[in-house]
Amino acid sequence: MRLKSVTAFGLAFLFLAGCAKHGGTGAIKIGLSLDTLKEERWQHDRDLFVAKAKELGAEVLIQAANSNDALQNSQAENLLTQGVNVLVVVPHNGKSAATIVDSAHKAGVPVIAYDRLIRDCDLDLYVTLDPTQVGVQQADYAVKHVPKGNYVLIGGAPTDNNAVLVRNGQMSVLKPYIDRGDIKIVTDQWATDWSPIEALKIMENSLTMNKNKVDAVIASNDGTAGGAIQALNAQKLAGKVLVTGQDADLAACQRIVAGTQSMTVYKPLSLLANKAAEVAVALAQKKPVPDKTSKLNNGKIDVPSILLATTQVDKANLDSTVIADNFQKKEEVYKK
Ligand code: GAL
Repeated sequence: MRLKSVTAFGLAFLFLAGCAKHGGTGAIKIGLSLDTLKEERWQHDRDLFVAKAKELGAEVLIQAANSNDALQNSQAENLLTQGVNVLVVVPHNGKSAATIVDSAHKAGVPVIAYDRLIRDCDLDLYVTLDPTQVGVQQADYAVKHVPKGNYVLIGGAPTDNNAVLVRNGQMSVLKPYIDRGDIKIVTDQWATDWSPIEALKIMENSLTMNKNKVDAVIASNDGTAGGAIQALNAQKLAGKVLVTGQDADLAACQRIVAGTQSMTVYKPLSLLANKAAEVAVALAQKKPVPDKTSKLNNGKIDVPSILLATTQVDKANLDSTVIADNFQKKEEVYKK
């Protein structure tokens, strides 16, 4: 009994303290709805976002949906019920997540798409590391090193708008080479949910079909690159075939050092997470969206978008980018 009233008093005190800090309006609550925490990067995204939001005086309620559309929708409903002032969503499915935006708007809550666009809805804002540019950087690296030959394309999740934008970026570079007949696309497939195991199978089949005559693999992220490299390794081809990636995951950086993965695209997640936390707090306070935005059409409207820059990384600049930024630790990247 006594303990209960002391706890109640403590909670009331914390609540009042929170109100005082935010001019009596209560702490800002941000709902963060994540597709998944499977890839290493999303754990970084979450931690960086929460740290920045805290610094700005906001509280973050987090849900991760394990790549399940229905679950992500119900988790978002749940966040709305808990009274979040703004929703930040990394959609598993860029189309079905439109339901989340509609529900949030009914509750008067603005929605920011984080990293991946939500299609066919009145999305308030999109903050991302430019996915088209990621695709351009992957293909640009590949054609500079392997200007002729047989190419395998492993796209990401077809349900993720980023996978489509990345592919568009890749094709914008590859097309003239294909048209000239210098590059032949021998396999063109997409890995459900960015699955490394699917990428492994796609690569195994491609090697069999092409009697191991593959010169370059445009894998759309590091996870799928890892799957492809495993298949190459089984044919003693790892390190002989160019393989691209995206995310600068620790395992990918280690493969770059070992020479089995040629490059990755480094996405400075702190830029993305900090920017997203800032605009989330602003939208929660009913401030207008920042005016320095690009426009990206989502099938319904031109969404105000913040597109941040990414960097091509290979063995030569790994230290001066990913490691210098402390995105990955030197001793771990170079661990034998
Ligand atoms: C994409 C994102 C990539 C990668 C992938 C797997 O949407 O652009 O950076 O992480 O998801 O989750």
